[in-house]
Amino acid sequence: MKRERWTSRTIFLFAAIGSAVGLGNIWRFPYLAYEYGGGAFLIPYLLALFIIGIPLMILEFAIGQKLQRGAVDAFKTINHRLSGIGVGAILAGFIVVIYYAAVIAWSLLFFVNSFNSPLPWIEDAKGYFFNNVLGISESVNVIGGVSLPLLFALLAVWIMIYLSVRKGVKSVGKVVLVTMPLPIILLAILFIRGITLPGALEGIVYYLKPDFSALFDTEIWLAAISQIFFTLSLGFGIMIAYASFNKETQDVSGDAYITSITNSLISLFAGFVVFSVIGYMATVNSLGIEEVATSGPGLAFVVFPQALALMPLSWFFAILFFLMLFTLGIDSAFSLIEAVNTAIKDRYPKVSKNKIAIAVCAVSFILGVIFVTGAGLYFLDIVDHFVTNYTLVAIGIFECLAIGWIYGAGKLRSYVNKVSRFKVGSWWDVSIKYIIPIALLVLLVSQLITDIQTPYGGYPSWALAIGWAAVIIPLLIVFGIAVRKGE
Ligand code: PFF
Repeated sequence: MKRERWTSRTIFLFAAIGSAVGLGNIWRFPYLAYEYGGGAFLIPYLLALFIIGIPLMILEFAIGQKLQRGAVDAFKTINHRLSGIGVGAILAGFIVVIYYAAVIAWSLLFFVNSFNSPLPWIEDAKGYFFNNVLGISESVNVIGGVSLPLLFALLAVWIMIYLSVRKGVKSVGKVVLVTMPLPIILLAILFIRGITLPGALEGIVYYLKPDFSALFDTEIWLAAISQIFFTLSLGFGIMIAYASFNKETQDVSGDAYITSITNSLISLFAGFVVFSVIGYMATVNSLGIEEVATSGPGLAFVVFPQALALMPLSWFFAILFFLMLFTLGIDSAFSLIEAVNTAIKDRYPKVSKNKIAIAVCAVSFILGVIFVTGAGLYFLDIVDHFVTNYTLVAIGIFECLAIGWIYGAGKLRSYVNKVSRFKVGSWWDVSIKYIIPIALLVLLVSQLITDIQTPYGGYPSWALAIGWAAVIIPLLIVFGIAVRKGE
């Protein structure tokens, strides 16, 4: 059977950039920069981008495109003992998308409620998010009830993800025409709104003021590496699957540079929006920037709503902001599902993509219900911590070892150079064989030491065990397949 194809290289780039540019760009990057040395953070960040991110992006694009297979079968073609790396990657991604969809559901609910005037969170944005939207329980030990509005929002999100992937790249290629550029346009509008607010400049100064002494702290380097990994959607098998629908002659290194650099520029740009709003909040409430600055759900669903409610035309900007979050997230989410579906389709070519899509989306929705319960946010926080800090990083190490040492870094690079205008030098082999695996291993071990010394987030061990399971199960699969196929 002929493999599906993107209709053009541009569409492929839209899809890859759409996957990379997600919630991570808005709620993690700006805060990391602020927290770890402001403008000085750009040094480790850019080094991690060029030494780790782009080489890995080239690797994922190259194997997908050369072997014309999704993650599982691509590694299987290299050596049947290695197919577990693909399975591990897909499984890690599957775990992530289940909770990521819950965050998109929050955005959807806020979006719908933005049509009310006055905005429903005008009095107490914090209480609105935690009590009205999440119905949060007092601790992870109390599961609490399912929030019905959230459950419906989650269902709506999964229906939209299903509609986007139902015809594989044919439908994905159409949806990304909207979901990739739209959030960037909305971000640009919010940028203009943001920088014209009183106090914006103070916020931006805090964001970018370099503190070079921060560079002596190893933590900043590790933060930069893990952010690069997550933000580029590496280690999920997504980029392998997407590239497998390219013609074998497409420019791999060009695609990798365009995708990675565009993604980082958008992160940098998002920082201006986030910090101008934080500066505004600090000014209006006569607080210090450090009392307002935060990351994660607290930024997008408490600080921003609060700031939006204070502005003239608040409902209008609230609509734009939550629409932006929604469109930012949805193409990252369906890229992951497409990676899963591609792997299943490679294995069972006779089953239609539509059937696979229905089954995968239905299972994901059902598993996602746990994240819309009263304890949902706690579970989300735990699973996110473990999967992004361990599972993805471990998959990255395996990818490098498999390509660098078993397939041959030089062999893959000569393919890349045959099809690419911008040639990749032998530094790439060194990076794949030594630098990336060592850097990732250091990251993994140091995180492990921290987690053993202090239980993450002060959660009870039974809850942390769920997080560890999300690390151990994919890794057992990687090793299990390697051992079993070797017999
Ligand atoms: N690159 C995405 C981001 O920064 O938000 C990471 C991602 C998350 C990709 C969730 C896919 C996904 F489902």
